[in-house]
Amino acid sequence: MSGDSPQTPCALIVMGVSGSGKSTIADSLAERLGWRCEDGDKFHPPGNVAKMSAGHPLTDEDRWPWLRAIADEIDRACRAGQRAVIACSALKRVYRDILVHGRDDVRIVFLEGTQDLIARRLAARKGHFMPPGLLTSQFRTLEPPGANEHPVTVSIDATVETIVDDIIRQLKLERS
Ligand SMILES: Nc1ncnc2c1ncn2[C@@H]1O[C@H](COP(=O)(O)OP(=O)(O)OP(=O)(O)O)[C@@H](O)[C@H]1O
Ligand SMILES: [Mg+2]
Repeated sequence: MSGDSPQTPCALIVMGVSGSGKSTIADSLAERLGWRCEDGDKFHPPGNVAKMSAGHPLTDEDRWPWLRAIADEIDRACRAGQRAVIACSALKRVYRDILVHGRDDVRIVFLEGTQDLIARRLAARKGHFMPPGLLTSQFRTLEPPGANEHPVTVSIDATVETIVDDIIRQLKLERS
C-alpha cells in the first residue's frame, strides 16, 4: 500500500435499513463499475429461508453462519481477482465486523436517509409487502457505522445517478 491512500477495494457492502435503496443502488453501482452484484440474502442457509418464509424473525444465532458465508464469498471472489458489490442490511456493527473481517479492501457504503422518506418509498414500492412497524424496528436496530469503520456515507435524498456518482467519487473509483 502506498502512502495514506487506502487499498483499492475488491468488495463494497451497500448497507442500510429496508427500503433505503440497497438493491437499487448496488445494481446501478455495479453496472457503472463493471463489477458483479450480489444480494446478501442469497447466502442464507436453507434453515433461515424456511424460518423467514414461515414469518419468524431471525435471531443473531441464525445470522452468524449467513454472515460468514458472505465473508467467505468475499474472500473467494477477491482471491479470484473479481470485484463485487453486495447489498446487505448489516444494521449492527457486529454483523459488519464479520463481513469486513479486518480486510481493508472491503468497504462499507451506508445509505443514510430519514424514516419519513424511506416510509414513503416503501409505500410506493410494488410487489413487496412490508409489515407495519418493520421500518421502526429497523431504525431501532440500526447502528450507523462509526468513523473507525471508514464508511462511505451517502444521502439517499437524491436521484439514483447522483447517489452512485457520490459513492464513486468518495471511493475514487473508476470503471474496471
Ligand atoms: N434514490 C432513489 N430515488 C427514488 N426512489 C428510490 C431511490 N432508491 C430506491 N428507490 C425506490 O425505493 C424503493 C426501495 O428501494 P430498494 O428496494 O432498492 O431498497 P432495499 O434497501 O433493497 O430494500 P429491502 O431491504 O427491503 O430489500 C424501491 O421502490 C426503489 O425503486
Ligand atoms: Mg433489497
